Amino acid sequence: MFKCLLLLFGVCSGYKVLVVFPVPGKSHAILGEAYVRHLLEAGHEVTYITPLPIKGNLQNLRQVDVFKSTKLLHMADVFDLQKLMYHTLDLQGPEMIFDMMYEVASLTLRSEPVQNLINDPNEEFDAVIVEWLYNEMGAGFSSVFGCPLIWSSSMVPHTSILSLIDEHINPAYNRFHLSRQHSLSLADRAYNLWIHLRLHYHKWKLEAKEDDLFKEVFGPAIKKRGRELPDFNDVRYNGSMVLGNSDVSIGDNIALPQNYKNIGGYHLKNEVKPLTQEMRKIMDDAKHGVIYFSLGSMLQSSRMPERLKRETIQMFGQLNQTVIWKIDENIPNLPKNVHLISWAPQQSILAHPNCVLFITHGGLLSIIEAINYGIPLISMPFFADQYINSDRLVEKGFGKRLDLTDGRTDDSPKRLKGLIDEMLIHNTSYSTKAMEVSAIFHTRLTPPGKELVFWVEYVIQTGGARHLRSTALSIEAYKKLHLDIILIVALVVISVLYVLVELIREFQIKVKIE
Ligand SMILES: *[C@@H]1O[C@H](CO)[C@@H](O)[C@H](O)[C@H]1NC(C)=O
Ligand SMILES: *[C@@H]1O[C@H](CO)[C@@H](O)[C@H](O)[C@H]1NC(C)=O
Repeated sequence: MFKCLLLLFGVCSGYKVLVVFPVPGKSHAILGEAYVRHLLEAGHEVTYITPLPIKGNLQNLRQVDVFKSTKLLHMADVFDLQKLMYHTLDLQGPEMIFDMMYEVASLTLRSEPVQNLINDPNEEFDAVIVEWLYNEMGAGFSSVFGCPLIWSSSMVPHTSILSLIDEHINPAYNRFHLSRQHSLSLADRAYNLWIHLRLHYHKWKLEAKEDDLFKEVFGPAIKKRGRELPDFNDVRYNGSMVLGNSDVSIGDNIALPQNYKNIGGYHLKNEVKPLTQEMRKIMDDAKHGVIYFSLGSMLQSSRMPERLKRETIQMFGQLNQTVIWKIDENIPNLPKNVHLISWAPQQSILAHPNCVLFITHGGLLSIIEAINYGIPLISMPFFADQYINSDRLVEKGFGKRLDLTDGRTDDSPKRLKGLIDEMLIHNTSYSTKAMEVSAIFHTRLTPPGKELVFWVEYVIQTGGARHLRSTALSIEAYKKLHLDIILIVALVVISVLYVLVELIREFQIKVKIE
């Protein structure tokens, strides 16, 4: 009440927000950091649970470092480029990725720094923001602190995240985000349905384990605060809002509930870091343009088979364009136009007016960064949503897809050259389309970072935005499927038919007697 009065007079000193991004991956940390940055700039106090803390001291920021726990998973070794290429590792089924992320959640929540935080009765928050990645364990923080829960989603809207605040999407026109194809052919729809069934089954199988973990890690802290331990399923479906790293210009156009907000692009910097002098010279001098090649932060390009690497560099050497390849390795005797760098200020390279093409792994952040500057892409997907992200940019006309995981890597450099020539020499439609999509992406009321802050404050100020809660969450499955109505209609029809048949029989008997 007091807080509301303060608000009324506009002297509120900022909220206390808990931001939870437990996944030990660079791209997830970029998204988490952007939440922190925007909330701090808006004058709020942030506590950030992360395995990859932000360097330097920021005012009003407290970091809870869980690196020690999640490093046990050796994620960087798991996501091995060569294993993915030769299918000795398949991350596309729901089972492996769900189990892996359950481990991330359990290691994080059981860790000492997190337990200390939630068991301290003096800790209070106005809202918690949790990154959703294949489980809802982080929802428990909202039960401990008795405050609203906001989900952050790193992908375009998909059935798992939407079911938490509304309902599942019809798989007939919405692919599971781990599909390898985005098409809706009969075979792909059948596969899509199959993978949805596996998803539901596996999720159902995990439920008891998740329930136990919820009781174990959050139970004592909740009881300490004198509250009843809620049912985990009630907490799971109690999110106030989903803030999605998505934008309709690069995603699918589907109906969304009122409390799903597209804020894709919120991690983009207004001003990019300046390039090093050496890099700037390379890019300034590239009169045929620069092709930038990076497989993201998780995969190491150096793990490409040697022959493929050699032939790819040879092929780059035949191009008129300058090529900048982000690779964690030194390779001698490079062609004049090929430059290797171990770390790249990606947004700064894409921002350079001479950048003409981005060869990517199809991660959503890379695609958003390219579209920010209207750069067309060639995408080589390796895992997770990268396959359908790649197919989307093909469908939308600003990119091409090249599979390195389909078992035919021998002619990959040749195929890649074909795509580069097609996109840069023979057909200008790709770069035109990229500029068009970029214009759509930029045509908005507010920058996404401002929207992020607005919705977080909105949830807090409206006591959890209960008025945006979907009606679909309050109705039983049998009612959703109209099973009760169908049953009654069926009974009536059967009864009427039965009576009719009986009447006809009676009538026939009478006719015979007469
Ligand atoms: C759901 O959220 C609302 C508002 O944030 C809160 O009052 C309620 O206690 C929560 N319920 C559960 C079961 O977490
Ligand atoms: C490369 O540039 C030269 C000189 O501008 C031009 O004649 C040639 O056609 C270009 N080659 C390709 C493959 O574009």
